Amino acid sequence: MNKKIKVQNSGIVKLKFVDDFPDGALVIGQARESVPFDIRRIYYITNLSNPRAVRGKHAHKKLEQYIFSLSGSFRLHLDDGRNKQNLTIDSPYYGIRLGPKLWHTMTKFSRDCVILVLADDYYDENDYIRDYDKFLEYVRNEG
Ligand code: TYD
Repeated sequence: MNKKIKVQNSGIVKLKFVDDFPDGALVIGQARESVPFDIRRIYYITNLSNPRAVRGKHAHKKLEQYIFSLSGSFRLHLDDGRNKQNLTIDSPYYGIRLGPKLWHTMTKFSRDCVILVLADDYYDENDYIRDYDKFLEYVRNEG
């Protein structure tokens, strides 16, 4: 991942990589170290058999998350309300921060793509902003 992140409330983490070639590789992250919060929830997205699938299309008010591609690749579209950036996520050890007030959309999933997300809080639908115009309004009002 040699791209600079240009949007607000995002960033890159690199997990520890232990290469045990030819017997596999370990990718390791620890709370409050590589992932700078206590992880309260994980979820993964699999069975991405529809190449035209579009996921995300929302922002969060408070939630902190990191998103990884454990296998395969996808495109991650980030939008902080002012700047937009598209990234190809295709490495199991680089994660992208999805901080608050960051509209994110995922597309172009490879057939073998498995996405892992680490979150700092439990699921709460009230933390979602699912309407883009409301997101822009929220970003402007909250600074
Ligand atoms: P959503 O977060 O919109 O998925 P994505 O960002 O991958 O497109 O969630 C899809 C559905 O799953 C929605 O009905 C809420 C539900 N859901 C939970 O119940 N718990 C969770 O932790 C998550 C992430 C989603």
